[in-house]
Amino acid sequence: MAGSREHWGTRLGVILAVAGSAVGLGNFLRFPGQAAANGGGMFMIPYFCALLLLGIPICWAEWTMGKAGSRLGFHSCPAILGHLGGHRAWRYVGAFGLLMPTVVYLYYVVVESWCLAYAWSYLRGTIDLGSNPAEYGQRSAAVFTSFSGDDADGLVFRGGVHVSVYLWLATIAANFALIYRGISKGIEKFCNIAMPIMLLCALCVLVRVLTLPAFDDGSETRTVLAGLGFMWNPKPVQEGASTWSVLGNPKVWLAAAGQIFFTLSVGFGVIVTYASYLKPKQDIVLSATTASATNQFFEVCLGGLITIPAAFLFLGIAGASKGTFGLAFNTLPIVFQHMPAGRLFGFLWFFMLFLAAITSSLSLLQPVIAFLEEALNIGRRASVTILAVVTASGNLFVIYFSRNLAALDTLDFWMAQVGILIFGALEVLLLAWVFGARRGHQVASVGAELRPPRWMFTVLMRFVTPALLLVVLVAWCSFNVRGYIDAVRQGGVAAYGVVVILGLLAFFLVLVRIGDRRWGAVASSAQARSEAGTETRR
Ligand code: PHE
Repeated sequence: MAGSREHWGTRLGVILAVAGSAVGLGNFLRFPGQAAANGGGMFMIPYFCALLLLGIPICWAEWTMGKAGSRLGFHSCPAILGHLGGHRAWRYVGAFGLLMPTVVYLYYVVVESWCLAYAWSYLRGTIDLGSNPAEYGQRSAAVFTSFSGDDADGLVFRGGVHVSVYLWLATIAANFALIYRGISKGIEKFCNIAMPIMLLCALCVLVRVLTLPAFDDGSETRTVLAGLGFMWNPKPVQEGASTWSVLGNPKVWLAAAGQIFFTLSVGFGVIVTYASYLKPKQDIVLSATTASATNQFFEVCLGGLITIPAAFLFLGIAGASKGTFGLAFNTLPIVFQHMPAGRLFGFLWFFMLFLAAITSSLSLLQPVIAFLEEALNIGRRASVTILAVVTASGNLFVIYFSRNLAALDTLDFWMAQVGILIFGALEVLLLAWVFGARRGHQVASVGAELRPPRWMFTVLMRFVTPALLLVVLVAWCSFNVRGYIDAVRQGGVAAYGVVVILGLLAFFLVLVRIGDRRWGAVASSAQARSEAGTETRR
């Protein structure tokens, strides 16, 4: 609601909440696979370039926009973008800052519920792959299928409801209960507790993995050190090519850029909303940078040292080369089966993943909650109810079409791979060109404990970041988009996925239209006040 008085309680609280949004499944599941498949240590060169030239500038831009919005008491992307852009059309652009988090939430929370299912099963000791290592693979796949219903469409699995449907209900109940409690009592308090627990769990698993003795599978003996080498030694993407050829491979650069966006949670609009709950004079640059650094620590130091080295130790190259979900839900249970005290470490690992996921999914929900409150002038209870009904229907779509993770894949492609590049570009263009790079820098400098260099706004955000984004977008689409468009043409899940996205877009555009009038009135009265030199301080 315009003029809402909700704020983060403490500075550490906001940093942990943003870091909680950033640290998620992307850090522990997506990153290791991307790095190992795209040149190992060599991947870190494009990765850090993408961090510095794309990730950090867009991250600062989102924080700055949120902070500018907080002065008017706005918290939703449409209201904030409309205010900064000085034109109503930007409010409609802002609808993408609702669409993307909502769509990503639809599948993210389903994967989150699998993590809960695994954690719960390890705690109860019900994941047991038997005593014959030759059967581990098959049994582990069966466990995953029983949670995800992966081998058939529908909500019914072998005569009963998917196990994951129950855990999904528990997961969404937890998400909405926390969201309902609000910014400081819900999200902030939870992140304050969850982040240290995650760190502790991850460190326990890390120490266990790094101290594992050599393993002999009958044909060769492998060590963890060799696993670290497999992950991190610079290597070419194609066999026989030189190591340096990695840097000339556009797909590696695209993978790096995509990973940076996803892991920092930038380009979705969620940081705009989180930053809008700052007090107007609060520092943003130091907080933004600390939260990003925390995320990078979790990603590179914890995500990068645990899963693949452990999988390599017990299963060799084949086991360590599985894709994101294969590694997480098929391979790692085999690793824990081999590991002494594997049940305990399996629990710690999946519980940690669940916490990492829920602190992220909360940040996917809050932008829409803020929007519903602002646009419809309704209270927390009503907005939480509306969002719960809408997203639960969308979750059922993802669960129903879980065979080959088809629904998840389509939604992820259009939003988390293509959409973020477009929306991220629009955000920096708005801040650096429409609102003005210098004004943006001024907003970011108020109360700054770390003064942002001006060229970050005037050079990077104006020219470098948008130009790079354009290159990445064109290259990305030229490599990938045709396959997805063909799939949509053929109908089936790929087409239903696009219908779901368009349906949600229409829903948000209608609501933006409703909010439009109210925001116009608030913005013009704020302008009148500031022109009269009496801008009230909140
Ligand atoms: N950053 C989260 C991760 O690494 C994903 C995410 C994206 C969360 C966007 C919120 C918003 O898993």
